[in-house]
Amino acid sequence: MKIAVAGAGYVGLVTGTCFAELGNDVTCVDIDEEKIAKLNNNIMPIYEPGLEELVFKNRKNKRLKFTTDLKSAIKDSEIIFICVGTPPKENGEADLSYVENAARAIAEAMDSYKVVVEKSTVPVKTGDKVAESIRNYNRHKCDFDVVSNPEFLREGSAVHDFMSPDRIVIGTESEKARQIMKELYSPLKAPIIFTDIKSAEIIKHASNSFLAAKISFINAIANICELAGADVERVAEGMGLDKRIGRSFLNAGIGYGGFCFPKDAEAFIRISEKLGYDFKLLKAAQEINKDQRKSFVKKINKALLDVKGRTIGVLGLSFKPNTDDIRFAPSVDIIMELQKEGAKIKAYDPKAMDKARQILKNIEYCNSPYDAAKNADALLIITEWDEFKQLDLKRIKSAVKRPLIIDGRNIYNPDDIKKHGFSYISIGRKDVD
Ligand code: UDX
Repeated sequence: MKIAVAGAGYVGLVTGTCFAELGNDVTCVDIDEEKIAKLNNNIMPIYEPGLEELVFKNRKNKRLKFTTDLKSAIKDSEIIFICVGTPPKENGEADLSYVENAARAIAEAMDSYKVVVEKSTVPVKTGDKVAESIRNYNRHKCDFDVVSNPEFLREGSAVHDFMSPDRIVIGTESEKARQIMKELYSPLKAPIIFTDIKSAEIIKHASNSFLAAKISFINAIANICELAGADVERVAEGMGLDKRIGRSFLNAGIGYGGFCFPKDAEAFIRISEKLGYDFKLLKAAQEINKDQRKSFVKKINKALLDVKGRTIGVLGLSFKPNTDDIRFAPSVDIIMELQKEGAKIKAYDPKAMDKARQILKNIEYCNSPYDAAKNADALLIITEWDEFKQLDLKRIKSAVKRPLIIDGRNIYNPDDIKKHGFSYISIGRKDVD
């Protein structure tokens, strides 16, 4: 099938590339000329495991193209995916101007029947707005249908998530569009849920919000465990074996970050408010999430008595492992707060240092975890990269000024760490001296 993808950001690039890999002819369009030029020279704008290989392969066999020419891409395609950004406005609502612009451009360029698919995370009823925009600017009076087909891609495993999804959600009121989308997704062996557009839009928000609330729930339990002297890891295990609960997304830590959960939860709170519902549960989840970062800084202060003038080694900057993304990452808030309080920061991340350099200043960026540990009064674990789970702790011990690890992701077994002679503070578990 012939597909155009408007927006070559995270979602658009993965979606377009994977559809090309499934045998479709895909054109990815972006207004960012530099990004498109780079992609046409096989330079990836983001780090995502497995994506680069698929981009090279599908460009080579001419199933995947990158361009800034939206008009031609629309004319040549039957299905157009809107994958443009929906960044948060000051009040937390999603900014839909890019979606609106894309809809208008599609309407002006289309000269035959098109299926217009919203893939970006958008407030409920955006499908109606997209259809209205297209109707208003539909120069050639062409038939079209709007579909909501939300993405559930996790950064770091986006290609795998695309190819092996738990489910595919297709929201449309049109039988013709339904059949086209069904055929498009037929190579993937996954259940397809067909709904109306609004329900599909809400499925996306409800899923992300539920997961965010699940993380905040276990973080609240972690706080209770600390007060009671219990172990949140064992509690999560005990809860997670109940099939109705499940163990995933019950990892206590310094909370959720990234460009989806914090922003989408905030947007869903605003959407609910506008519809007339006060989403107290989700508001509490967001509050608990913010508190986790603050209480981590408090833990550091308590352990060091005062962070002023201390050297703190930071392991991990990305909001989670296997990505170079630091948007809304806990590392940013935590480091900025520690700097404000007078700490000296040394940091290491396997992939995210280039992006971090643009935001986090006055940091000594290090070449290895051992460099970051050198002369540190405390070593923080902020992101659970596999590399940090396999550190040579003897080497770390001889590098640091004081053998103190404060682990925001519970990556170590407290007893093992104790054997290596470290003091160890983690989340929802007893401190080890
Ligand atoms: C998320 C959704 O999972 C995906 O379906 C959606 O389309 C986009 O948003 P992503 O933001 O890439 O994906 O990461 P995810 O793996 O879901 O983790 C989100 C955040 O939650 C990370 O900061 C992670 O560290 C945190 N997290 C996750 C926890 O703190 N504990 C957990 O148990 C799981």
